[in-house]
Amino acid sequence: MKPQVYITRRIPQAAVDSIAAACDYAMWDSADLPVPRDQLLAALSGVDGVLTMLTERVDAAFLAAAPRCRVVANMAGGYDNVDLAALNARNVLLTNTPGVLTDTTADLVWALMLAAARRIVEGHNLIVAGRWTTWSPMFMVGQEVSGATLGIVGAGRIGTAVARRASGFAMPIRYYNRRPAPALEEQTGARYCELDELLRTADFIVVLLPLTEETRGMFGAREFALMKPTAVFVNAARGPIVDEDALYNALQQGRPGAAGLDVFTVEPVGAEHPLLSLPNVTAVPHIGSATVATRIRMATTAATNLVAALTGRPVPNPVNPAVLPPT
Ligand code: DGY
Repeated sequence: MKPQVYITRRIPQAAVDSIAAACDYAMWDSADLPVPRDQLLAALSGVDGVLTMLTERVDAAFLAAAPRCRVVANMAGGYDNVDLAALNARNVLLTNTPGVLTDTTADLVWALMLAAARRIVEGHNLIVAGRWTTWSPMFMVGQEVSGATLGIVGAGRIGTAVARRASGFAMPIRYYNRRPAPALEEQTGARYCELDELLRTADFIVVLLPLTEETRGMFGAREFALMKPTAVFVNAARGPIVDEDALYNALQQGRPGAAGLDVFTVEPVGAEHPLLSLPNVTAVPHIGSATVATRIRMATTAATNLVAALTGRPVPNPVNPAVLPPT
């Protein structure tokens, strides 16, 4: 009998085909809307594996509804939607899709850096509203990018890719990480420094950390107060790493000077969110990895992980490999 699989969203056909070749599957048939929780739990009773999005909470209740489940293949690099301790307790493998979204997400970080520094969205809105009256020497002036100091918080794959892109802008790079990252230093000339020093000295502060209990709320009033009034703050990691009320107050007081945000504490963020009322905020809807090619790669990578785990082949991206039987 083939393994039974549930896919929590309509994913690209290439990924579905690779699952169908080895498994019987059911799939929530919407590309845009998450499966409602009750329907998700009801769909899990006989499954051996699940391919999930970061919109699904994979917790004890999820696992209780899926007593046969051996693998959860999350279609994302991050997995803060998953209660890893609950999976470990049940010996369920978790896989993710690191590597395939690195450059795409780094590109988006740069888009936010440039847009926030050069007031791109504000300028667009001004034209659309018919408020462009003339050219003036100090009209819509923003912050210089070339030669500015780039501060990267979190020196993983994406942080390194963001740093690599800085060479064309002749930017000195500082980074903060739990431990020094020699590869990043060698490739980009980045210099390790303590977080407070980075916050005081960087012109661009880019957050690229996973969300953990350690990083939750890591950026609050104290951290924003250390930043330059001209600094541009970018979060393309996870919303809860930032205290949004503190960021709102800080931006209103002009320190940092602007923010570029791809992620929010609650997603989708409502249009009434105070941060969205600020002209110095550039916001996009969690699209760091959102290119056609990358989303296809993420789906096929998740599918490969899922099928490998269910057919006893080596799993490319295990998050908790200790639960795998020895090979
Ligand atoms: C991830 O992969 O963790 C992103 O946030 C979604 O692409």
